[in-house]
Amino acid sequence: MPRHATPRRYLMCPPAHFKVTYSINPWMDPAKPVDVPLAVTQWEDLRDRYRSLGHTVHELRPRPELPDMVFAANGATVLDGRVLGARFAYRERAPEAEEHLDWFHTHGYTDIHVPAHINEGEGDFAVTSSWILAGRGFRASPLSHGEAQEFFGRPVIGLDLVNPRFYHLDTALAVLDDARDDIMYYPGAFSPGSQAVLARLFPDALIATRADAEALGLNAVSDGRHVLLPQAALGLFEPLRARGYVPMGMDLGELLKGGGSVKCCTQELRGAEGS
Ligand code: ARG
Repeated sequence: MPRHATPRRYLMCPPAHFKVTYSINPWMDPAKPVDVPLAVTQWEDLRDRYRSLGHTVHELRPRPELPDMVFAANGATVLDGRVLGARFAYRERAPEAEEHLDWFHTHGYTDIHVPAHINEGEGDFAVTSSWILAGRGFRASPLSHGEAQEFFGRPVIGLDLVNPRFYHLDTALAVLDDARDDIMYYPGAFSPGSQAVLARLFPDALIATRADAEALGLNAVSDGRHVLLPQAALGLFEPLRARGYVPMGMDLGELLKGGGSVKCCTQELRGAEGS
């Protein structure tokens, strides 16, 4: 089936101060050194790839005291030009929420909701054409799902994450075509009930293997045609091509040490600002 790319706007934050000094997910080992110049080069490759595909990338100023700020997807969720701020589960990342709010305030956004309940932005919220899929179990509070539904006026489907390696929804599920409800996911990251919900809502989804999920292959970003994903997720490339997508492998190996890859670095700004 022919796939169509649509121009996107993304918010990213360069890893100038990236390090792993604490561990809040099983991927993070403070004993393992991080090569910051390499992290920056890998991140710039991703940013430049988006731009070469015709997308707009805005950059957030990194803060030295916030090493995880590179994972910009966690700072907010933007839909129809409306901004649902984040509230982080761990104090190490808590001040990032304010950095994102400041950015939205100074970039023309007026409809901004500061959340009462813990949510880590697009880490646990995924937008499809019909629903907002929402993870819970490790980070987002189940109460944040109702808060997002009320604010955006879209149905929110709660999904239970059960494996600590897949602590955010975006480590286990990616939206491939947000106009047609096409997704890919790794069932083993979800509870049996949530697996049944996903099978019912997305009977034709691309199902990832454990190996590809372990390579963080589901931490992917699609513009409807091009799918940018970790290059080590070898098993996903052929199935994506068979569905008409153009997979593009990226190397974000340094950022994997923080437990994130392509999607974690990319917050999508949906809808016009100030609308
Ligand atoms: N070290 C970060 C954390 O554990 C990684 C966040 C990854 N972001 C994501 N969207 N999954 O919070």
